[in-house]
Amino acid sequence: MAQKVLLFCDPGIDDSLAIIYALLNPAIQLVGIVTSYGNVNQEQATQNVAYLLELAKRDNVVLIGGAKSPLSGEFTPFYPEIHGEEGLGPIRPPEMIKEELLNFDTVFNLIEEYGPELLIVDVGRMTSLAIAFNLAGPEIMNTVQGFYLMGGAFLVPGNVTAGAEANFYGDPLAAEIVTTKVERGVIYPLNVTNDAIVTPTIIDEIVATENNPFQPLMKAIFDYYYEAYQKLVPGIQGSPLHDVLTLFAITNPQAFKYIEKKVFIGLTEETLRGVSIADFRPRAEEEPEEQTVAIALELDYQEFIADFINVMTNKLPIIE
Ligand code: RIB
Ligand code: CA
Repeated sequence: MAQKVLLFCDPGIDDSLAIIYALLNPAIQLVGIVTSYGNVNQEQATQNVAYLLELAKRDNVVLIGGAKSPLSGEFTPFYPEIHGEEGLGPIRPPEMIKEELLNFDTVFNLIEEYGPELLIVDVGRMTSLAIAFNLAGPEIMNTVQGFYLMGGAFLVPGNVTAGAEANFYGDPLAAEIVTTKVERGVIYPLNVTNDAIVTPTIIDEIVATENNPFQPLMKAIFDYYYEAYQKLVPGIQGSPLHDVLTLFAITNPQAFKYIEKKVFIGLTEETLRGVSIADFRPRAEEEPEEQTVAIALELDYQEFIADFINVMTNKLPIIE
């Protein structure tokens, strides 16, 4: 049976490719998508998701309105130079918001409906998920199967500041609430997502199959994202698909090595904001009562790339 997933996201190019990956993967059943600010504003993120669902002819994935700003209420910058003005590189999605953008309490209805069959995956700023924890409390939230979180950078450079990754930096307080309240939580940080490199050659091979309606879009948004990454990381041969890797982990947990740790997140000054820290000293053992999460630290790249090509060349699955 396909894994039921409630996805929190902020599309964004790698978020969009992650949604496409999920829609093309018969082993994943998206039951809902919560759209929040992050790479673009929340309204644009919603429109982008509606466009992807329309391309897939999927009207059985509910669309839920998430946060428009971090918990602090401050403005955070968007990233048009990486994701494009509208979040889909050079593509402007048609003005076609799905009629029903459901209220946030739909999150709790889905948790009640699916309980331990539901996996919550967050590949954006964690504001909406933190709000869900604050509203419902950990007892209800932790009735789900678990939580996959894309964020953080442990003992490696950040991608927004020297030490911080974008999702944790965008709302560090939310990231702290989520990482300290989740049970069965797994973090996919830059340590592994930076390795999820997809090259233009691979995209060209996928697109040449003409197997599904996403492929022209895939090519356009990937090329934009790759051009941006070439400016960011001189000499890079492809682009890291952070959010796709987090979705890949759902059906391929064996492709990673994990370590269980308590996580701390910098909340204050700019240099520490969003920085993720865990105690990696060999002598350090977690106290049994400490709240820990699993952190993915190593990736089997060949498994990732083979699965990525396989899924992205699928025909659209038929989901009842
Ligand atoms: O740091 C990578 C994350 O930030 C991804 O979720 C990507 O979409 C960007 O916003
Ligand atoms: Ca994202």
